[in-house]
Amino acid sequence: MDNEWYKRMSFYQIWIRSFKDGNGDGIGDLYGVYDKLEYIRSLGVDGIWFSPIYPSPNADFGYDISDYKDIHPDYGTLEQFKKVLDKAHALGLKVIMDLVVNHTSDEHKWFKESRKGKDNPYSDYYIWRDKPNNWDSLFEGKAWEYDEERGQYYLHLFAKKQPDLNMDNPKVREEVKSIMRFWLDMGVDGFREDVINFISKKEGLPNGIPFVPAVNGMPFYKDGPHIHEYMAEFRKVCEEYDCFQVGEGPMTTVRSAMKYLTGPTKSLDMMFSFDHMMADCLYTEYVHRPFKLYKYKRALSKWQYALQGKAWNALYIENHDHPRIISRYGSERYRRESGTMLAVSFLFLQGTPFIYQGQEIGMSNIRLRSIDDYEDVSSKENFHKYHLKDSLERRLKRIHISSRDSARTPVQWDSSAYAGFSKKKPWFFVNPNYTAVNVAAEEKDPDSILNFYRKCLNLRKNSRTLIYGSYREYFPKDPEVYIYERAMGNIRYLIICSFVKHKVFMLVPKKYNGMKMELVLDNYPDIRSGQVETVKIGSCLLKPYEARVYRFHV
Ligand code: NOJ
Repeated sequence: MDNEWYKRMSFYQIWIRSFKDGNGDGIGDLYGVYDKLEYIRSLGVDGIWFSPIYPSPNADFGYDISDYKDIHPDYGTLEQFKKVLDKAHALGLKVIMDLVVNHTSDEHKWFKESRKGKDNPYSDYYIWRDKPNNWDSLFEGKAWEYDEERGQYYLHLFAKKQPDLNMDNPKVREEVKSIMRFWLDMGVDGFREDVINFISKKEGLPNGIPFVPAVNGMPFYKDGPHIHEYMAEFRKVCEEYDCFQVGEGPMTTVRSAMKYLTGPTKSLDMMFSFDHMMADCLYTEYVHRPFKLYKYKRALSKWQYALQGKAWNALYIENHDHPRIISRYGSERYRRESGTMLAVSFLFLQGTPFIYQGQEIGMSNIRLRSIDDYEDVSSKENFHKYHLKDSLERRLKRIHISSRDSARTPVQWDSSAYAGFSKKKPWFFVNPNYTAVNVAAEEKDPDSILNFYRKCLNLRKNSRTLIYGSYREYFPKDPEVYIYERAMGNIRYLIICSFVKHKVFMLVPKKYNGMKMELVLDNYPDIRSGQVETVKIGSCLLKPYEARVYRFHV
């Protein structure tokens, strides 16, 4: 155990465009964030991660940055950001920024200069070739786009408007460090680092695996040859400040993550892995499959066991890249029950929890009428490319299930027009369920998902066992219930989550059969926590999506 501050924390993620409109233009902004900081603090979280708030043409909603050292005019100014930062700090909230340096926007000054020609000082800031290789991009067709002005192709692993930076160029790395210092000097506390395991590409950019769509080039850009040297340079900057770094690691394995998290190549405090987000789908194309609990449990346990005592997990079940979790792993019909149970399934694991805006009130997927109503570049690509053989209706259904836009609808603050998000028609559709599902209604209801999140975060914060204790899973093959234990000294917590709509017998590890345990949390209002009961095998039926947290001594 050690005392790094981030281990005791939990974070709230803001995707600002849909968080809260403060200046009445239909777009979320820093004025809205300023007004809602007390609300965020009231959840019991200790920090905020801002998805990109920099100037951007929004081809990928902020992940295509055209100026790293400013604020998008839609969201406010640097002065307003500073006010938010100061107020957040005064409330005891740390603030981390999104560091997106695998690529920029094609409207960034560097790219505009780079495309002018080989003699330009920015010429080698990007990856230019006369002849493209066979790589696909993850978002928009092939990974190479011909640029008339320069007369060459540039690499883009994501959308066409997101050219990849050439991290092998030391000047580019200096730029990255300068961006980090700019924000750290202003007072931010760290970074979430976008697709950070993709920033070093294999020399010569060899052709990728034939006939594998989208990810064919990945063996040559994931965990590339110089990744740990570059990461070490960035880590050094962070070490000058008491700064925190969480990396996003698409397709990362435990083995490769460990290199970022431990030993001489340690460059990150934690990493977002994706395995547990694929219990109902496959990779970025989002090939949808029925949810299988064993896949979720297996992925979580794999990371819990592997990192235990060696590294630290980043815990999440929602962010701006995934459809809403209740619509995926839970049930919209059992929204409250499954939303609260899903909270229990991940909040008490070992690691630092990240909660995404709207998750705390149980927002669910939106179903739009036409693909033209969707905004996300990857949803549009999936619709047009991957599902061509299907009928239009079926393709749209797949988009309903898979689109990132479901996580990007305005946060539902109350039941007034536009869900209280804005006084004006918002930039994007509000989920029609806002009249029932909103913060104001959940504030009033002691048994709401919102108040349950507060209880969970509070319980975690006040228990060293739940923060630092060891992890063990029981009954891993059970297809309906997830049971895990956290242990430290003689204190144990048993966490029990039912993932089904019918009643199931509560499983109890044999060695604990007949023990007295205190029920410290239950997501059914009629089962009041605080009572001590003798827990016996076969003695208790769990209700649909019921979750229980027991505490006991051994
Ligand atoms: C991961 C980000 O979370 C996602 O939103 C973005 O589209 C890609 N990286 C590309 O930056």
